[in-house]
Amino acid sequence: MKKELSAIEAKYEAQKIAFGPMFFQSVVALRDLGILEFINSQRKGVSIDTIIEKMNVSEYGINLLIEAAEVLGVVEIVDEKVKITKTGFFLLKDEMTRINVNFMNDVCYMGAKAMTDSIKNGKPEGLKVLGDWPTIYEGLSILPEPAKKSWFEFDHYYSDGAFPAALKIVFKTKPKTIFDIGGNTGKWSFACCNYDTDVKIRILDLPVQLKVARQNATERGLLDRIDFHAIDLLDKDQVIPQGADVIWMSQFLDCFSKEEIIQILKNAWQAADEQTTLYILEPFFDNQDYPAAQYSLVATSLYFTIMANGNSKMYKIEVMKELVRQAGFEVIETYPLIGDSYHSVLECKKRL
Ligand SMILES: C[S@@+](CC[C@H](N)C(=O)[O-])C[C@H]1O[C@@H](n2cnc3c(N)ncnc32)[C@H](O)[C@@H]1O
Repeated sequence: MKKELSAIEAKYEAQKIAFGPMFFQSVVALRDLGILEFINSQRKGVSIDTIIEKMNVSEYGINLLIEAAEVLGVVEIVDEKVKITKTGFFLLKDEMTRINVNFMNDVCYMGAKAMTDSIKNGKPEGLKVLGDWPTIYEGLSILPEPAKKSWFEFDHYYSDGAFPAALKIVFKTKPKTIFDIGGNTGKWSFACCNYDTDVKIRILDLPVQLKVARQNATERGLLDRIDFHAIDLLDKDQVIPQGADVIWMSQFLDCFSKEEIIQILKNAWQAADEQTTLYILEPFFDNQDYPAAQYSLVATSLYFTIMANGNSKMYKIEVMKELVRQAGFEVIETYPLIGDSYHSVLECKKRL
């Protein structure tokens, strides 16, 4: 059972939330000014005077950022020496943390102020700070830097880890044709072509993304095996063509509301026949092994609200299964937390 907080502890927790955004920026500054790296390089700890001497930052700035970092548990001060803590080490060296911090700082931070309006209006009101698009997806390939780099690193970090194990699942029946719905820059499609020399892929996505995918496929000499189909799946009149052995949706359905997911899956249903397998690869927030993973996924839902589209989120696994059923598919197999990833795969067949 969770320990009940005392009033004093609860008040402290509330202050962490109150000042959280500023403390976040103080850690970004500590990292980007090189101070955290310098502290990390001094295994036995380092005095504040030495930090001031070695860094090209004012005494004021160093003291300020170190006081904040100590409060946050990013550094500790023992016998007047500043040392990096485990948390500080993760902020500096852990890939997932680095990617999450950059995503937060470069993509979400400025728009986060629009949370209330986004929820009221069901629109990503924070997106205006990056560009004038109805959803972030129309702007993905043309986002201003550093938002673009940080968005793609965030997206790829999570899906890349799942692909090796997912390939084994998808290719167990040796499909000849795969439709990669929301195929983005083509990473999954290229992995498929690499894994199986016979498979043919069709990437379906918004036109702006297909430009990048086509360019990438050209560079890899894969134009004879991959073709491209521009589609806006929010438009009911645009249908997914028939003919796929596998319909693949990776980190795709979380970009939509429940009603939209049903509409898109019904579209996939009309494209499927009894042989077609629909695979859904998603990080479901309620079946994670680590609290950091669940925390990150719930945070990602907030990003969808303010920056992506104002109406989507990360889902619980049973919620997604129910949407699959409502669209006319049945989940015939669940592969929970495949490989070294946060993702599960739902293998689905058309209910006839
Ligand atoms: C989060 S990315 C996932 C990319 C990739 N499948 C992966 O696993 O990394 C979502 C993709 O869905 C596409 N998408 C979003 N809205 C769409 C729509 N209305 N119609 C078609 N594709 C859409 C985006 O352009 C983007 O490529």
